[in-house]
Amino acid sequence: MMYKNKQFYLCERPEGVVSSKAVPQREHIIEAIQDGELIIENQYISIDPAIRGWMRDEPSYMPPIELGSVIRSSTVGKVVASCHPDYQVGDRVYGLSGWETYSVSNGFFLNKIPDDSPYPENYYLSIMGAVGLTAYFAITDRSGLKSGETLLMSAAAGAVGSIGGQIAKQMGCRVVGIAGSDEKCGWLKTIGFDDTINYKTTEDMTAAIARACPEGVDVYFDNVGGEILDAALLNLNSHARVLFCGSIASYNATEPVPGPYNWWQILARSAEVRGFLISDYLAQFPEAALTIGQWLDEGKLEFREEIVDGFDNCLSAFNRLFDGSNNGKMLVKV
Ligand SMILES: NC(=O)c1ccc[n+]([C@@H]2O[C@H](COP(=O)([O-])OP(=O)(O)OC[C@H]3O[C@@H](n4cnc5c(N)ncnc54)[C@H](OP(=O)(O)O)[C@@H]3O)[C@@H](O)[C@H]2O)c1
Repeated sequence: MMYKNKQFYLCERPEGVVSSKAVPQREHIIEAIQDGELIIENQYISIDPAIRGWMRDEPSYMPPIELGSVIRSSTVGKVVASCHPDYQVGDRVYGLSGWETYSVSNGFFLNKIPDDSPYPENYYLSIMGAVGLTAYFAITDRSGLKSGETLLMSAAAGAVGSIGGQIAKQMGCRVVGIAGSDEKCGWLKTIGFDDTINYKTTEDMTAAIARACPEGVDVYFDNVGGEILDAALLNLNSHARVLFCGSIASYNATEPVPGPYNWWQILARSAEVRGFLISDYLAQFPEAALTIGQWLDEGKLEFREEIVDGFDNCLSAFNRLFDGSNNGKMLVKV
């Protein structure tokens, strides 16, 4: 059987906000697969800020997407043809593939959704997938956060931030979230955040953080970088940790990004900056997913997904991550 595959691919390296000229669509026919390969019909595509970094030609934790290649992303789907000994037609799978309707895989970076899983497929790209696990490992392991400490979270109403904040609350911490609208801040309060700051309506972020964190910041979970990082640095406690998870404020930058200007505070507070990379934790994914599943079942975690209907909307959904108009984990339903 032949499959007509629609793809978004990298035609040129984007400058600033990604245009359809840099990332256009194309179609091709998948006619046959080799021994050891399978074809996945993608059902949901994960739309992640990190993809913007993979479009750049610079050293990172993964090679850049090559010009002419499909846009790399996580997907969840169903096996529709298989010449691979470990996969049968009908298996539900999730893993790394791309913005395309069908993916040919050799099984690399691919996992099966257990037949008895009580969760819908899309959960494997959100709460049970890389963003849920990022929040889990960053908070419980890499940040060094301890009960009674204060956590300040940026992009707090987003996928990673909202889950991470709730895990920190469960650990007995004071949790303050920074987000870009009153609606998002209101939602964060309903899921247990102690205080929130709308950075788009706050003039003096340094003073606002000081008010919301009267005992100072022990862990700043940085998803954003830029001016918010600078304001957080001025509120660190002695031996604080800055968990560097992302820097979305600069992903579309067209010039080199200066700063952080208050870097001296790392020395002044004997603080530590800890880089976090989810792929360091691959071997522990199954165990962590069990814990997250248990918390979900017990009603201890809430999360939001924004599911955009239609494959053709991958690029517009992606660009909405950078103006904050997404509400929770951004997914495209193919
Ligand atoms: N290190 C890792 O292994 C790893 C893994 C997954 C994700 N990440 C990082 O985690 C961060 C969050 O990712 P996510 O998937 O959970 O996305 P998300 O938070 O669901 O969506 C991105 C959010 O970032 C905020 N934002 C965008 N531009 C901003 C700016 N200039 N200043 C302040 N906030 C801005 C927006 O919320 P507002 O409305 O609040 O502005 C937007 O909703 C990203 O930096 C991502 O790269 C890292």
